[in-house]
Amino acid sequence: MSRASVQSSAPGKVILFGEHAVVYGQPAIAVPVSEVEARATIEPAPPSSGLSLVAADLGQRFTLSEAPPQDPLAVAARLTLSRLAAPVPDAKIIVRSSIPIASGLGSGAAVSTAIVRALAEFLGRPLPPADVSELVFEVEKIHHGTPSGIDNTVIAYEQPIYFVRTATSGPQLISVGAPFTLVIADTGLPSPTRRLVSQVRAEWQRDRARYETLFERIGDFAREGRRKIQTGDVEALGPLMDDNHALLIQLGVSSPALNELVDAARDAGALGAKLSGAGQGGNMLALVGAERAEDVTGALRQAGATHVIRTTVE
Ligand code: MEV
Repeated sequence: MSRASVQSSAPGKVILFGEHAVVYGQPAIAVPVSEVEARATIEPAPPSSGLSLVAADLGQRFTLSEAPPQDPLAVAARLTLSRLAAPVPDAKIIVRSSIPIASGLGSGAAVSTAIVRALAEFLGRPLPPADVSELVFEVEKIHHGTPSGIDNTVIAYEQPIYFVRTATSGPQLISVGAPFTLVIADTGLPSPTRRLVSQVRAEWQRDRARYETLFERIGDFAREGRRKIQTGDVEALGPLMDDNHALLIQLGVSSPALNELVDAARDAGALGAKLSGAGQGGNMLALVGAERAEDVTGALRQAGATHVIRTTVE
């Protein structure tokens, strides 16, 4: 059957509250960041050529039949075909992404989401967000070991979510009472999620009581943060972010580079700031009033941020 080319995209994400604690059953809040995205284009290929994948940004080019068994892009494609009980089509998948890798912005989950969506659509059987999220979660386990599932969920649903890993009823979408602006700045250093999640696990195993108290307190920021987002009490989110950052320092996942950017944003008038994602490197985010957005962006660049994004949550 001849098929037309299709293109699908998926946004990046940031975690507003609750990273790491979410792995231990606490709630977390994440929002999509549409200013960066992964994109997958699928073009029909000559008969019997099979499925090939080209990801120039990642330096990858292979056919599905030759791909290493654990290659995340190939796994995303294989899982989609198996979910749809579809034979391997003759096609080429071209993947591009403007989301920096290992930076806490969900690059891996976004690339997988774009592939799953594009392939399902190419086969004429688009999948709903819950199915996309479930397939991408399987791929995330290869990237991250024991992920909570928050990245695949917020990216597949493309809406602010309140996420609890043990919830059986699916993610809770948050309705935003008043829009707010985030400035997201990259340290330019890698944020190795898998290693940081296992570092926290090792610390938790050494001192469960202390770590569970920290997780519980971090969970409180997500519980309180959801209420403030829903009622549009934007200013109240700032101190919650500051306090969440302080506990992430106690968890041992911040770094001088992240703390410098957080301090620079606060000094320039941000309402609150924290690291976002697994930590150590990657991105931080600052909550800003409209009148401070320029100053905070400039201060973050001055303080060494390699990349600054502004996004509005609404
Ligand atoms: C990564 O974006 C957030 C972590 O909490 C890990 C996870 O939830 O899987 C650090």
